[in-house]
Amino acid sequence: MIDIHSHFIAGLDDGPEAMRETEAIMETYYELGFTHVVETTHCYPGLFEVPDERLTEITSRMKKSNIKIFSTREYFVDFNFLEKLEKKNILPYPDGKHILIEFSFSIPPINWEHIIFKIVTEGYIPILAHPERYEWISSIPQFVEEFKRRGGLLQGNMGSFAGIYGRYIKKQFLKLLNEKMYDFLATDTHSHSQLKLIGQTLPVLRETACEKYWLEMTEENPLILLEESRNEVL
Ligand SMILES: [Fe+2]
Repeated sequence: MIDIHSHFIAGLDDGPEAMRETEAIMETYYELGFTHVVETTHCYPGLFEVPDERLTEITSRMKKSNIKIFSTREYFVDFNFLEKLEKKNILPYPDGKHILIEFSFSIPPINWEHIIFKIVTEGYIPILAHPERYEWISSIPQFVEEFKRRGGLLQGNMGSFAGIYGRYIKKQFLKLLNEKMYDFLATDTHSHSQLKLIGQTLPVLRETACEKYWLEMTEENPLILLEESRNEVL
């Protein structure tokens, strides 16, 4: 399995505080069968502002482990993000094309059609993190299909199935999974205990998704994001 969304490296954002926990997370990743993990440090001005250079330097130092480590950002979509986009100051996945974005959990994004248009025009493909977690998602019924029609991709959180965020979000997750709307599933790990909890429900989730779709979301599609020379897009 390949985890394309994780905050497992200590001291970068709201992930673990100590490297000892990072090491424990990596061990659990290995035990669960993960072969590649992407650190997706938050990019949220005023809250998490680790420079891209520091992030890539830290991950390159960790490359000797039995799990392949990559890095990108999870961009909170706001005015600052759009400014970064215009200045081409973006750190995509290793394929140079896909970027991970998140919206506000409580406030519906204004002008999201325009935002996707801007991202696509700049040559990127947006992957929206955890759509099932947005409180406003059911108030914009056309959002999911429209987001995908305009060139966006969706990443569900395995933790939503595990019940980490409550019953309502699990229900939203199962709806999107059954409709085969997800292109990726990832852990969005912030702590060792969270990953262990996800690990406990992983076999049931795999069975629920069916093998072909599971492999597509956890191996085949994620691999495309990691291959530097690959021109193929999802
Ligand atoms: Fe995240």
